[in-house]
Amino acid sequence: MVAPFAIGPASKYIGLMTGTSLDGIDAALVRFDGNTPHCLAAHTEPYPSDLRDALLELSQPEADVATMMELDVRLGRLYATEVKRLLSRARISAEQVVAIGSHGQTIRHVPASKYPSTLQIGDPNIVAQLTGITTVTDFRRRDVAAGGQGAPLVPAFHDAVFRQPGENRVILNIGGIANVTVLPGEKELPVGGFDTGPGNILMDGWAARHLGLPQDQDGGWAASGRVDPQLLKEMLSDPFFRQPPPRSTGREHFNQRWLEARQPAGKLPPEDVAATLCELTATTIADAIRHQAGDTERIIVCGGGVHNATLMNRLEQLLAPCTVESSARHGVDPDRVEAIAFAWLARQTLTGGAGNLPSVTGAREPAVLGAIYPGTGKHQPG
Ligand SMILES: Nc1ncnc2c1ncn2[C@@H]1O[C@H](COP(=O)(O)OP(=O)(O)O)[C@@H](O)[C@H]1O
Ligand SMILES: [Mg+2]
Repeated sequence: MVAPFAIGPASKYIGLMTGTSLDGIDAALVRFDGNTPHCLAAHTEPYPSDLRDALLELSQPEADVATMMELDVRLGRLYATEVKRLLSRARISAEQVVAIGSHGQTIRHVPASKYPSTLQIGDPNIVAQLTGITTVTDFRRRDVAAGGQGAPLVPAFHDAVFRQPGENRVILNIGGIANVTVLPGEKELPVGGFDTGPGNILMDGWAARHLGLPQDQDGGWAASGRVDPQLLKEMLSDPFFRQPPPRSTGREHFNQRWLEARQPAGKLPPEDVAATLCELTATTIADAIRHQAGDTERIIVCGGGVHNATLMNRLEQLLAPCTVESSARHGVDPDRVEAIAFAWLARQTLTGGAGNLPSVTGAREPAVLGAIYPGTGKHQPG
């Protein structure tokens, strides 16, 4: 295949990530030397609370199309603003950036339904028009079209950046949903990867409801409660946890309704539910790693969950004698890994390289992912 764009050996990209946590926009300006990313500037912009609420409402089954169209535009504008902010911080012009890789905000993810589909919004036309920069987006649906889950997509990037011959590694990303990438030390073995289940999503929802806060800061609230074995057992009986890979999930499955069905209101003290939800995340991650990658030596953690000390302590206990450490130990800020991955995926698209790993998503073949929205060639000021 002929690459549609001529790209120099060291070139700059911007990655934009908005994950299922609905916490905000992670943006990273990255220069790649081969596959080695150098993050030149990065920023996380929290979502305004009314936008977060509107997105949460949009994830309900009864959400309407007009609301979705409005939020598509609103997110497109926010992404463009975020890109401009990053450029001015880094003091570089739009012409120096080859492309933006924008994940978009997932609204639905149902790859296992009769009509397998996944949908991300945040109008890329607006991003390309307002920034002037070529914008690559809609990465997941091509993998779904090729018979895959459309997720996880970051394993190809993890493979390129974190694989170490002679050491069996797992990259663990704890976002709203938690996912693992299995990187065997032996180079002939295929990369594995799948969603383990809820990461922060249920803990965040519970903290919002009982503390009025977007998260259980550092896991302190969970640490003050006691794990309820009955509730834990009830939650672990969800068939998702027994499903073999390829598997992926999202907010349409793990949400407050899911929790309410297993924990009738007022039955347990809220802090005990918080402790049990934290334990659920830790247990399902540890079990998945033990069953799918029993010979793992090192677990490299990224995503917002790395800041939850209670969760990290439990993971260390459950996964001993494995080393469990932040990706910062490997030179990559844990809060930037996914944004950098989408910058890398945009480069894959523009250079005609595959972005999916069939061994991970279950796709029939590797595919060049994403749609390209050409830049204007001139940066609009402001
Ligand atoms: N200091 C912290 N204490 C507890 N949880 C945290 C902390 N910082 C971040 N988080 C969690 O990480 C989440 C954001 O993680 P992120 O990797 O951005 O997920 P996503 O990709 O789904 O947006 C927050 O919603 C929160 O649950
Ligand atoms: Mg996030």
